[in-house]
Amino acid sequence: MMVTLPKPKIKGVMSLEEAINVRRSRRSWRKDRKLTLEQVGQLAWAAQGITNWREGFRAAPSAGATYPLEIYIVVRENGVKDLGKGVYRYNPFKHCLMKTLDVDITYELMEASLGQYWVGSAPVNMVIVADYSRTTRFYGDRGYRYVHMEVGHTGQNIYLQAEALGLGTVAIGAFYDNRVKEILNLARKLTPLYIMPIGYPEKRY
Ligand SMILES: Cc1cc2nc3c(=O)[nH]c(=O)nc-3n(C[C@H](O)[C@H](O)[C@H](O)COP(=O)(O)O)c2cc1C
Repeated sequence: MMVTLPKPKIKGVMSLEEAINVRRSRRSWRKDRKLTLEQVGQLAWAAQGITNWREGFRAAPSAGATYPLEIYIVVRENGVKDLGKGVYRYNPFKHCLMKTLDVDITYELMEASLGQYWVGSAPVNMVIVADYSRTTRFYGDRGYRYVHMEVGHTGQNIYLQAEALGLGTVAIGAFYDNRVKEILNLARKLTPLYIMPIGYPEKRY
């Protein structure tokens, strides 16, 4: 199933400086607020959206423009208005989501992240996964280093975009790789690198 996302906005209400200044790792979410499809689309765009259609360049830089990262979006039951529970893969070329699983795997994702409650309680979890071979094909072993740098760029974009939308996130590096792969039903060549739960932060601090 394909879900078309609203066109991303390139102007917002919060300045970049303000987003950098207020950014924190958020770990508790308001239970009374769902995300919108527009917010999900904006976050996916900030992570890997195409910002130069002529060259195919994206929101986050990539070594040799090899683009090894894929964005999976885990949606909890009633987590997003106008988007059913399940797992979706972001397609930057069409700015759409492709549904890959129809079940709510949020609880399993929390268990795979050593029980981190901020994963299990979030309306949405973005999972950044890598296909190293897209980069190592060109750069050999140094490609691994490049992919790890890139996930940092993409993760920071998600942090700042979340803040600018009045949302919050936290970069999660602690999880069992194989279990996350299994839960998301990822192809063998894909490695999960970050899990980023997203929601309305319960308190600003
Ligand atoms: C590579 C990396 C891995 C991290 N893994 C986790 C994690 O597994 N769980 C968690 O709650 N926070 C995780 N964090 C978030 C840090 O705890 C957080 O960035 C740090 O405490 C500084 O707080 P701040 O982000 O609000 O500035 C991680 C951050 C980075 C950069």
